[in-house]
Amino acid sequence: MNYLQKIPIILDGDPGHDDAIAWMLAFARQELDIRGVTTVSGNASLERTTRNMLQIFTLLGGRSIPLARGSERPITRLPFATPSVHGVSGLDGPALPEPDIALSELSGVGLMAKILRESETPVTLVPTGPLTNVGALLLAHPELKTKIAHISLMGGGILKGNWTPAAEFNILADPDAAKIVFESGIPITMAGLDVTEKALITPADFERIRAVGNKVAVIVADWLCFFYEFHKQLGYPGAPVHDPVAVIALVKPEILTIQEMYVQVETYGEFCKGATIGDVYKVSGKPPNAKVIMDIDRGAFVDLIVDAVSRY
Ligand code: RIB
Ligand code: CA
Repeated sequence: MNYLQKIPIILDGDPGHDDAIAWMLAFARQELDIRGVTTVSGNASLERTTRNMLQIFTLLGGRSIPLARGSERPITRLPFATPSVHGVSGLDGPALPEPDIALSELSGVGLMAKILRESETPVTLVPTGPLTNVGALLLAHPELKTKIAHISLMGGGILKGNWTPAAEFNILADPDAAKIVFESGIPITMAGLDVTEKALITPADFERIRAVGNKVAVIVADWLCFFYEFHKQLGYPGAPVHDPVAVIALVKPEILTIQEMYVQVETYGEFCKGATIGDVYKVSGKPPNAKVIMDIDRGAFVDLIVDAVSRY
């Protein structure tokens, strides 16, 4: 596959064990041309997610990819981290190599805008954390909207929440940014909890990944072991590895079940702030603004992760 056919993408996230695995998958796939990576606060502070990004791409060998530090905090709310899930560093577990890659001097939005401006073809954004950077990009550079081909995001859930009964973490962390994104008119694929809670990787799968035997495979298996500790206590049979589904939507959509839907983001409310409200019964009269992923072939998902680590 030559560069002319590859899908140009920008990764944006809050690594985060599942962000790290999503980025490992994206970097392993020949269909994707990663033009840049940006960080956001979410699972941990921006300082920590940015250090994690540098360590992840040092591990993966992505030294030619521009990496930039994104927004310090959500557009209106204050950030809140999730040490209970990802640990204090945001990526607790295996030791990672010290970064040997320098950060871009540009801000996250600045790097996104540069990539979009200079790209000959529209670029796909793959945000897997709070949507602060993407929302800020759309506010600061409306002239670049036509250079965004597609947004394949992890976030939300139709009638599902994992941080409140109504809201998923990425959307709740910055609902105003999410509202800007879902109202942008840009084609959106939403990998919400409807599918990502089914993207389970079990302890038996961890060992299948570890058995591949290279350094990346062993670290991914260790990341999964750590990430599963939180979920095991809740009775999960495996770790719900949310973020890679947003990448799979680009490289293997045939293993997904997708429903087109009009989705709104609740930015107010005592109980429902951060909810993604899906018009399942088409009562709004509004045309769909998102492809909502509802299911995944779990076995094929795990095979893709095993295949990806085998390529390092
Ligand atoms: O709710 C799951 C999402 O929140 C994932 O992206 C995880 O990394 C955290 O950011
Ligand atoms: Ca994430």
